[in-house]
Amino acid sequence: MHGNRRDVLTGGAAAIGVSLLPAVGRAAPSSRVAALIAQMTIEEKAGQLSCYSDTIRPVDAIFNPVVNPQSATVQLAEIRAGRIGMIFNGLGVAGGRRAQHSALDSRLRIPLAFAADILHGHTTIFPIPLAEASAFDPALAEASARMIAREASATGLHWTFAPMIDVARDQRWGRVAEGAGEDPYLASLYAAARVRGFQGTDLRHADTMAATPKHFAGYAAAAGGMEYGEVDISEATLREVHLPPFAAAFAAGAASVLTAFSSLSGVPATANRHLLIDILRDEMRFTGPTVTDYDADRELIAHGYARDEADAVRIAILAGEDISMQSGLYTRHLPALVAAGAVPMARVDEAVARVLTLKERLGLFDDPMRSLDPRTERRVVGAPAIRAAARTAARRSIVLLKNDDDLLPLPRTGKRYALIGPFGADRTQLNGTWAFAGRAKDSIDLATGIRRLLGPAAQLDVVPGSGITEDLPGGIDAAVAAARAADVVLLAVGEGAFWSGEGNSRVDIVVPPAQMRLAEAVAATGKPVVVLLSHGRGLALSGAVAGARAIVATWFLGSEAGPAIADILFGIDEPTGRLPVSFPLSTGQQPWSYDRPSAGRPLLPLPAEQDGRAGWRDARDVALYPFGHGLGYARFALSALQLPPQVAWDRDITVSATVANTAAVAGTAVVQLYIHQVVASRTRPRRLLKGVRHVALSPGETARVTFQLNPADLAFVGADNRRRIEPGEIRIWIALSSADLGVEGRTTVLAPET
Ligand code: BGC
Repeated sequence: MHGNRRDVLTGGAAAIGVSLLPAVGRAAPSSRVAALIAQMTIEEKAGQLSCYSDTIRPVDAIFNPVVNPQSATVQLAEIRAGRIGMIFNGLGVAGGRRAQHSALDSRLRIPLAFAADILHGHTTIFPIPLAEASAFDPALAEASARMIAREASATGLHWTFAPMIDVARDQRWGRVAEGAGEDPYLASLYAAARVRGFQGTDLRHADTMAATPKHFAGYAAAAGGMEYGEVDISEATLREVHLPPFAAAFAAGAASVLTAFSSLSGVPATANRHLLIDILRDEMRFTGPTVTDYDADRELIAHGYARDEADAVRIAILAGEDISMQSGLYTRHLPALVAAGAVPMARVDEAVARVLTLKERLGLFDDPMRSLDPRTERRVVGAPAIRAAARTAARRSIVLLKNDDDLLPLPRTGKRYALIGPFGADRTQLNGTWAFAGRAKDSIDLATGIRRLLGPAAQLDVVPGSGITEDLPGGIDAAVAAARAADVVLLAVGEGAFWSGEGNSRVDIVVPPAQMRLAEAVAATGKPVVVLLSHGRGLALSGAVAGARAIVATWFLGSEAGPAIADILFGIDEPTGRLPVSFPLSTGQQPWSYDRPSAGRPLLPLPAEQDGRAGWRDARDVALYPFGHGLGYARFALSALQLPPQVAWDRDITVSATVANTAAVAGTAVVQLYIHQVVASRTRPRRLLKGVRHVALSPGETARVTFQLNPADLAFVGADNRRRIEPGEIRIWIALSSADLGVEGRTTVLAPET
């Protein structure tokens, strides 16, 4: 079975090269596509390669700056003239039909494709993607993406600029909220799951959307976590950390790919032939269209990489950018560049073929009005099944970080509660980034969710206490009075919903000072405090927030946030979320991820022994809450690890352990498998996640949990930048988080017999 993996034997450390790339193959365009291209003028070709923000059915509150504005009248005329191939971020079937009719009036009747940034819901908002990664369950993400695509396609959309699959190891970077966190393995599982969910089984079905994994590649590694900042990482890190989710998304059939704004080792992604040709086409064998990010071809000028607009177009298209988003530069400059011989027509035709093939895969040539049925729009948007799926996803995204003396779950009767903080009764802060069509009035806040659950007799006082960044007159006094009168305080604090996402990097990832003052005053009452955090990243917690009896990570959970949080607080459901990003001790540790390699002077086991060890004067090299951490309402013990002492390099390794529920309540253990290669040609992560199992156990019950590691799980990018397996000793843990000792064993991977 693994015979084909033994294609390269690189000698040295007896490494075995493995090919993990999907065999997507190169498809020739259909005869319909080829015939169309043969009839197209260069202006029409440039039009098919141009994508513009939808002004025919615009929505408010899009993040993007206004660049190259077009009125609806101009846009409709341009579509009729065959100078626009797709429009994006519009909403509604009626406007979509108008636009599509205009396209069908054009000379070659090529239908438009309608795209949008549908990351975690369209009108019904699901948890932000980072939150949903906390479920450690790609099947959940797939089911959510399916529901999201059903709703979004019902409002006239064919194509999503999602999933965002950048692996983000710096919590200052705001776009960590859009992805699946810091771990390449989890991010890859989620990337593939979300692609499958968006695209369904057949892209021709009206309820599917073509997926566009983004941002190719390395964008999340921006220096200092600064948005749009330069990325300077090794080729090996690019391949080991940032590319695997793309490989997974392509293997799952992703139809297109969107490129990064950032430069990679000095070459902007938009101009990067190494990324867009050597890696994307030649190695990964991806055949769908590439899309520049918004105006990113023009941005080559600001990068200092292109002299002027025409130069930018020449560089971008020759580097492998097929579709130009928003700048209008392809339309303006391609005809002259081709006429002058600066861009070969064959390159233009290749890009156009990819765009038309995508439209063909979506079934648009046979049914240009697909996804444009007003009855479906009325029936599907906001449908109860979609709301229910959003609530399930929200519940499963919640992570219980701390629960001293089992303060949670709270009793539903007999206690008085004070809900304090700016997020307690607010509907504008629930949806988070990229939720432009989700209306605040359709989301259920925390106070409402709790009242619905506890009933009209609920003893619940709701006091904001402070704003997100500002003190409120008398706010702290009112909060302290409510806390004194209560048995338990629920303290809803954190970052604003738009403090993460694009353009929202932070230099200090803390709860803002006004809310910290509130938290300190409330804590001084001595009442038990449950902190309910709103956040789009791992935060550095301190003071009264870190010291609270219980802390719950609630991210931005979307339309059903309030009911989902209430379900967890009052024990209707147990929290099963686990952290997809580490919460640091301090901002100054960033970037920090659980899987960094060991230093030459790693920490020692005892706190007293840390002098001269890797770390900082004022913080150890640990997280406050590490990747994979999360509590439930039960407790679990692991024992009896079994694994073979040695294994042939091309065989699977079966690893198992016993997990016991030692609590008096039922619960679900999220059992994680980590590996570490002891000696290798490149320093290896201290631990790497390679498996997750959810095991539901009644009180006192035990079960055997078994993982199957295959040779590809052991492969890594070696000193020669090639993916390989290096025979040798592997440490393996089955544990309950990345920092949990769990149960450990070792196995030796044997070199091939010569
Ligand atoms: C973002 C992309 C997004 C595009 C279109 C850009 O600013 O970086 O992620 O798809 O805008 O809205």
